[in-house]
Amino acid sequence: MDVPMRPEEKKRLNWENGLYLAPLTTVGNLPFRRLCVDYGATITISEMALAQPLVTGSAEEWALVRRHESEKMFGVQLAGGFPNRMVPAAELLAKELGPSGIDFVDINMGCPIDLIFKQGAGSALMDQPTRLGKILVGMNRALGEIPLTVKFRTGILNNKPNAHKLMPRYETEWGVSAMTLHGRSRQQRYSRLANWDYIKECVEVAREAVKDAGMAPIPIFGNGDCFSAQGYYEAKERTGVDGVMLARGALIKPWLFTEIAERREWDISATERLEGIRKFAEYGLSHWGSDTLGVNLTRRFLCEALSFQHRYIPIGLLERMPPMINERPPSYKGRNELETLLASPYVGDWLKIAEMFLGPPDESFTFSPKHKSNAYGSEEAQG
Ligand SMILES: Cc1cc2nc3c(=O)[nH]c(=O)nc-3n(C[C@H](O)[C@H](O)[C@H](O)COP(=O)(O)O)c2cc1C
Repeated sequence: MDVPMRPEEKKRLNWENGLYLAPLTTVGNLPFRRLCVDYGATITISEMALAQPLVTGSAEEWALVRRHESEKMFGVQLAGGFPNRMVPAAELLAKELGPSGIDFVDINMGCPIDLIFKQGAGSALMDQPTRLGKILVGMNRALGEIPLTVKFRTGILNNKPNAHKLMPRYETEWGVSAMTLHGRSRQQRYSRLANWDYIKECVEVAREAVKDAGMAPIPIFGNGDCFSAQGYYEAKERTGVDGVMLARGALIKPWLFTEIAERREWDISATERLEGIRKFAEYGLSHWGSDTLGVNLTRRFLCEALSFQHRYIPIGLLERMPPMINERPPSYKGRNELETLLASPYVGDWLKIAEMFLGPPDESFTFSPKHKSNAYGSEEAQG
């Protein structure tokens, strides 16, 4: 068997107290990540890129792995099912971007969607430890000093969790430098809350194995349903994770990073929220361009962002704290007109908000949200 590179031979990932914005297909674009960095995110990652089109030089795929200079700890997430695709992709990433261009490469082992799963990639890798080991060892070598990380689920089926079997092996056998466990199975998608008790068990077995091997522990992050500063610190203290990765919480309220960094729940005003939206528009135009194409792309991705942000319920209107990610009140009236507008679930209103910063759309512009985030539990998410 190939001897894996050990994490000590890599750049060390110092993720203690890191505020990690999850990989988010479509909505985790560069302008959104830049906004999250403004709010305090310290670890960011590209949208999921597929190994095969990277290797064949697809411009679209390479655009996904671009970093903004404000992203100080930036990784690329890669999906693929086989060493003969993943290893060359890693080699190219290292060659084209290098250790100063990317801080880590993450393997997507959580994606539940059929298209990816049927290619043996995403969460399918969880049931293929031999193939997975070959991918990890090969990629690790190809990446040189760039650390390799993994993001995975509890398992494929609800009643057959197997993350606890893989976790003790990631560092000791395969030389992985950090890991994130999303506490749901593939089968579960977003139904029911993430299982943080299981995350705790997994952290314990992984730490034990590393101790037995006499190795230095690597960062372990948990993921699932974090929506408040209180939720973040409770999860951390209860389970022993080094940090919590934030996905829908950050999409619904990008200022969640500030709340966590400052250990407070922020009753943000509608005007402050609008300033975040203005910034997104500004960052969008600077990234996609201010010609017609760039404005249309900015408008589209701003509407995608609003398809999540409208779900935010102002803390000042809540009956009890902390706010929970699955709360869905009947439609409410905000404390002023702007707050009511920002809570609107209607695409027409999102377009109206976008128009404030981008001017009126041309007649050909249409929009329907990619992720059906309106009904809890029905997200067509990729992780
Ligand atoms: C719109 C959307 C897109 C996502 N895209 C990815 C992705 O490309 N790669 C990935 O590993 N996870 C992806 N995920 C999963 C999240 O990273 C995260 O694991 C999951 O949403 C659970 O965290 P949460 O409860 O904080 O939302 C996506 C989730 C959402 C909602």
